[in-house]
Amino acid sequence: MADALVSTDNLFLRDVAALRSSAQGFLAARPRAPQAAATIALLQTALTIEIVCVWRYTMMSVSARGLREERVGFEFQEQANDERKHTRMVAERIEQLGGVPDFQPKGLMSGLAMDYNADFDGMIAQNLKAEQSVVEYYTDLINHFQDSDPQTTAMLEIILQDEEDHATDMQDLLA
Ligand SMILES: [Fe+2]
Ligand SMILES: [Fe+2]
Repeated sequence: MADALVSTDNLFLRDVAALRSSAQGFLAARPRAPQAAATIALLQTALTIEIVCVWRYTMMSVSARGLREERVGFEFQEQANDERKHTRMVAERIEQLGGVPDFQPKGLMSGLAMDYNADFDGMIAQNLKAEQSVVEYYTDLINHFQDSDPQTTAMLEIILQDEEDHATDMQDLLA
């Protein structure tokens, strides 16, 4: 049902899909790089996903319908706050591992997707699809790290729980 509302050409969804597939390619390649470098590279894809979600949900919280309907505006502000919390958690872990979190990732299309006039229900359906994709993405990362890196795994499990809640919230908004 939701799929019928989702434009396959949405730039936010394209960013999420591209980041997820870059992580999948990285996981499949099983790089011979040192463990910390491999972890940092994977966590950078997570950081970028979180950044585009902060943009998207903040935009929706202050869009016309977000301001007109208190529940909708509040819901998206809460989600943006969660994504900002995730951004910080992932960036901190990158820092702990000796990396430098990149807050200006290149090649993103989401900035071009900030369309206040877009069909709002269609955007919520796109968010649902993105959150479901992010849940699968974090599940893949947890499976990858659970035997070798308990600290990263514990952080990812906290984030995954929030992402599952986000997907449920989007389903509730569509209902
Ligand atoms: Fe998130
Ligand atoms: Fe989310």
